[in-house]
Amino acid sequence: MPHLHLGADELLTTTRAVRKRLDLRRPVEREVIAECAALAQQAPNGGNAQMAHFVAVTDPAQRAVLAAVWNRGHREFNPDPGRARALYGERVWGSLEHLAAHLHEVPVHLVPCRAIGVPRAELGHFHWANVFADAHMATWSFMLAARERGLGTCLTTLHLQFEREAAEVLGIPFEAVVQTALVPLAHTIGTDFKPGPRRPVEAVLHWDRW
Ligand SMILES: Cc1cc2nc3c(=O)[nH]c(=O)nc-3n(C[C@H](O)[C@H](O)[C@H](O)COP(=O)(O)O)c2cc1C
Repeated sequence: MPHLHLGADELLTTTRAVRKRLDLRRPVEREVIAECAALAQQAPNGGNAQMAHFVAVTDPAQRAVLAAVWNRGHREFNPDPGRARALYGERVWGSLEHLAAHLHEVPVHLVPCRAIGVPRAELGHFHWANVFADAHMATWSFMLAARERGLGTCLTTLHLQFEREAAEVLGIPFEAVVQTALVPLAHTIGTDFKPGPRRPVEAVLHWDRW
């Protein structure tokens, strides 16, 4: 798979949430998904226990069901479109609505997961922190590796409101394995992406105390 040869800082600043520029007609080669997953395995993980997994969903029927679950989560979380538009801004809301309408057409739904050794009900704050950190570290590495290979991604969590349903669709043992996101994955239309708008760093970087 050809690389874009982005420098580290450029990769970090141009790996955007891609929703409108996903190429819905071009399939993603299995080899490139495996390559990104192998790179993601190098991410930090608690105790080097390597409990993060990825389910790469390419089957159109599976994607259709997942997209429907995701859309139900979207409507549940954003019941008032006017309010959501005001909250997110036109740019993000328009992009989100576009993804909602086309998610079933995105060639790969990547579902990062984290295996857990004890029943969910027994997990406290500390354990949940480790569960999600493990999976998100690997997920962000996957997203960066994908960007370097001309693929676009967007970390989403909306379907997790109906995680059990998605688990049934994907054959994931719900009590033993936690889903942490759904990442649409596709080649991008064009490969030029710019740094996103962010607050000045002084607003978020605290020295010595909050
Ligand atoms: C924890 C988390 C949850 C998110 N959930 C969603 C989601 O459910 N749907 C979606 O379209 N984007 C979701 N996003 C993507 C954000 O909207 C995106 O990262 C943010 O707007 C910055 O976009 P940019 O990097 O392109 O500027 C999520 C991101 C994170 C980190």
